[in-house]
Amino acid sequence: MANFSFITMRYIWFLVTFFFLFSACRKEEPPVTPSQTDDYVLRVPTGFPQPGIPADNALTRTRVTLGRRLFYDPALSKDSTRSCGSCHFPQLAFSDSTAVSFGIEHRPGTRNAASLANVAYQKQLLREGGVPTLEMQILVPIQEHNEFDFNIVLVAARLKRMPEYVALAQTAYEREPDAFVITRAIAAFERTLLSGDSPYDQYAFQGNPFALSASAKRGLGLFESDRLNCSKCHDGFLFTNQEYTNNGLYEIYPDSGRIRLTGLESDRGVLKIPSLRNVALTAPYMHDGSLPTLETVVDHYQTGGKAHPNKSPLLKPFKLTPGERADLLAFLRSLTDKKFISNPEFRN
Ligand code: HEC
Ligand code: HEC
Repeated sequence: MANFSFITMRYIWFLVTFFFLFSACRKEEPPVTPSQTDDYVLRVPTGFPQPGIPADNALTRTRVTLGRRLFYDPALSKDSTRSCGSCHFPQLAFSDSTAVSFGIEHRPGTRNAASLANVAYQKQLLREGGVPTLEMQILVPIQEHNEFDFNIVLVAARLKRMPEYVALAQTAYEREPDAFVITRAIAAFERTLLSGDSPYDQYAFQGNPFALSASAKRGLGLFESDRLNCSKCHDGFLFTNQEYTNNGLYEIYPDSGRIRLTGLESDRGVLKIPSLRNVALTAPYMHDGSLPTLETVVDHYQTGGKAHPNKSPLLKPFKLTPGERADLLAFLRSLTDKKFISNPEFRN
């Protein structure tokens, strides 16, 4: 998705600006106050903070339902063949099983589809961190040539001809299914995708000392050790400090990363540090899906990564005994939240 040239980027920013202006003109109207019965009760996992929710998009059940319908609806793509759910599968923690994903007419993208678990907490979206809100991010796949190759205005025109959507949009936002409604509703659905009930969580936050195997506990120790340094970057309740760095994947990066956004040479090959929640489900790994398994990820880190002027000094070679390697992998696999991936509320 993100191999957009600067021209495309400019176009998207034009749209985003347009979108801002558009929402700004609506500020005069009183905010929609959802009826009590429509309140959505967000079940925030134990140990997680409350996610930020924009003032113009309070969660209601109707909004979330509408957003879920749109998320799985191929009507958002030009030829009505692909939906958000075609690349973000609930059973894979809303990621994809292939290195890159395919848009309409089987057009390949350039990056590995990110998991949407806990995306409500991401401060900036996409691997270079160029998109600040979930509402805005929705314009990207709609517009991208190798995703939906469509346009928000045309999506809205299509939905306005579908009586079910007209009715749902009225109840949810008291307006037609326009650009405001489409972006708000899908973002509302995405904010409900909270995942924090893995064996690790049961052990660390829910006071169950038996939830984690002895091997996974030793793996956690390694993960947090100064020898491996994993938790220096994969830190906090999401296992990411939400910063951007170069983890030595290549000497020459085909995808130049954050430099696309900032233009700074020090941002070449620099990418967002991803969350490791549900990581056993989100293979293949890294921004381009080039590492097929968790074993190959551990092999990568053991070498200390490839030489690159921007490589983080936190990466240094280390050796693991076969037992330690198994422990580290057991820990990474303990971050899988089975209830999250089987939750019928998140499915089509
Ligand atoms: C053709 C496949 C494809 C489709 C369709 C698609 N996505 Fe994605 N999505 C991706 C890829 C690939 C990335 C990673 C892009 C990057 O990092 O630059 C991504 C990233 C995201 C992110 C950013 C996550 C993060 O942590 O930064 C969000 C949010 C998202 N997609 C939501 C959606 C929504 C909502 C839709 C439907 C409107 C959608 N996607 C449609 C492939 C797809
Ligand atoms: C200097 C910061 C840093 C350190 C230290 C670090 N990582 Fe990472 N990690 C990253 C970045 C950045 C990425 C994403 C790179 C990309 O997208 O190509 C990543 C990606 C990953 C992924 C792939 C996630 C996915 O969904 O694609 C796994 C798994 C992972 N790291 C595990 C570890 C483990 C285990 C350690 C310790 C041995 C570790 N990391 C140490 C920064 C770091």
